[in-house]
Amino acid sequence: MLYIEVETYEELSSKASEIIASVVKSKPESVLGLATGSSPLGTYDGLIRAYNNGEVDFSKVTTINLDEYIGLTPDNDQSYRYFMETNLFSKINVRKDLTFVPDGCAEDIENECREYDERISSLGGIDIQLLGIGLDGHIGFNEPCDVFVKETHLVDLDPSTIEANARFFSSIDDVPKQAVTMGMGGIMGAKKVLLIANGKNKAEIVKKAFFGPITPNVPASILQLHPDVTIIYSKN
Ligand code: GLP
Repeated sequence: MLYIEVETYEELSSKASEIIASVVKSKPESVLGLATGSSPLGTYDGLIRAYNNGEVDFSKVTTINLDEYIGLTPDNDQSYRYFMETNLFSKINVRKDLTFVPDGCAEDIENECREYDERISSLGGIDIQLLGIGLDGHIGFNEPCDVFVKETHLVDLDPSTIEANARFFSSIDDVPKQAVTMGMGGIMGAKKVLLIANGKNKAEIVKKAFFGPITPNVPASILQLHPDVTIIYSKN
């Protein structure tokens, strides 16, 4: 595990985007595992800049996102599909048909989850998985629980997650109570993992997850077992 502490969010974002850009430069047909939340926004801006400068070409890249809320359609501005379109996909030359986000409106969610895992396998796995971390230690939407769940699955969101994510919605009642998330198998199967965390409020969970015991009660702690994981933390 490579743990890097930096001073500012800008530094964190430029390091993270450089790491992802270098993966794409060395393998143009990379499979990028992507994340939502506020943390990756600066990283995505860095990738957009690199694309605009002609440094990185995304035309052969495939993207596969971690998670999606149940019941939010792609045109809902709080859906993770909408987030990705707005903050990254529409600003780089990735092929839309090669961008994957779980369908939180699928009629048969179990089947959607199975197909998502099959897709990850058929792509040959993920070259680099970008992650944020929730205040309760969740990655994707793998919430604290008694076991690490391997497959893509349906989750009931933790009340603390609903509260934390309410800042993006007009009222806490609008936050979906469930989500589909890639499981730990997909995340741990990635060749490289890059987790970014910023802000003083993340200091405690970062310490617990990466310097404490490995337990499904702190889902991100499983990353201590990954052979190629980089954590970048900035307190500001
Ligand atoms: C959501 C996402 C996670 C993300 C987390 C932290 O719950 N499902 O993938 O890591 O938020 O978000 P933020 O980066 O805004 O703190």
